[in-house]
Amino acid sequence: MQEILVVGGAGYIGSHMVAELQAAGYDPVVLDDLSSGREDFVGDAELIGGDCGDADLLNDIFSSHKIDAVMHFASSIQVGESVKNPIKYYKNNLINTLTLLNAVVRHDVPDFIFSSSAAVYGEPEYTPVDEQHPCLPLSPYGRSKYFIEQILQDYKKAYGLHYGSLRYFNAAGAHPELPIGEQHEPETHLIPLALQVASGQREYIEIFGSDYDNPDGTCIRDYVHVCDIASAHLKLFDYLKGGGNESVFNLGVGEGYSVMEVIKMVKHVTGQEVEIHYEDRREGDPAILVADGSKAIDQLGWDPEYSDLQTIIEDAWKWEQNR
Ligand code: UFG
Repeated sequence: MQEILVVGGAGYIGSHMVAELQAAGYDPVVLDDLSSGREDFVGDAELIGGDCGDADLLNDIFSSHKIDAVMHFASSIQVGESVKNPIKYYKNNLINTLTLLNAVVRHDVPDFIFSSSAAVYGEPEYTPVDEQHPCLPLSPYGRSKYFIEQILQDYKKAYGLHYGSLRYFNAAGAHPELPIGEQHEPETHLIPLALQVASGQREYIEIFGSDYDNPDGTCIRDYVHVCDIASAHLKLFDYLKGGGNESVFNLGVGEGYSVMEVIKMVKHVTGQEVEIHYEDRREGDPAILVADGSKAIDQLGWDPEYSDLQTIIEDAWKWEQNR
């Protein structure tokens, strides 16, 4: 069985990847410092506790396992926090990833797959956003992802690193069968927060801005089911193994939903009222962020089968009730 090192495999998206890899007959090995991941999220996969910025640990792992690919999910992910505390973001997302990449190159790991973000684009100049859109990230979070993409290009040229970078739009939902799902501390994402209001854990949800130049005045996003994000990694891995040379792919389905539409769907799925409070705009939020995801669909054969809003929210609701 091919061994895949899943860095950050005990986290939200990484744990879905571990499940997807096992279902496809791979042997995932998880490296996670458990700072935000959960031990029980990795199931029966091997879990190595530690930091991907630990060069000695990486050396041990690559010497004792025959790793066929590295999938790198470990990252700090809050845009707002990154503006206030850039040191954390450049340490966790940039320096640690560089240490990991250096080990990947040193140990000749055949393929590297990077979790990038739509945050690399900044304020969209047109919509839907394709991969040719200029990258002008607005936050240290977005810049940390963008800098790594630049470094990956340099490493490809200089050392022949074979890699792919997936720019996620809004990851959401949960595994329909396994006890894994979204859990951040603190939670800042729209769908889990709205579901926590529906389940009575919170009194209300704040809507950040209702005066955007959109039909109902609230921000529009492209929500992608976490299982579809995981399946895209497998497609990309097959593509890379087949010698594919394209490096950057958007992961979004091209359907935009406003904050109000998401809340309406949360009410529909849960049958509960969701109290809303209108607040000022949140700094750094683009009015609309919708992907042109056709490159991943056409070139990788990606089939985002779970990414309609109702399925996303139904699966997230099951998780919210059982976690
Ligand atoms: N929102 C609210 N109230 C909340 C939370 C969110 O109104 O309590 C709004 C936001 O303003 C935004 C939308 O809901 O318009 C979605 O917000 P999320 O926080 O769920 O997601 P973001 O679009 O801000 O961020 C996501 C990822 C980031 C990534 C970004 C890519 O979480 O890691 O997409 O642009 F960088």
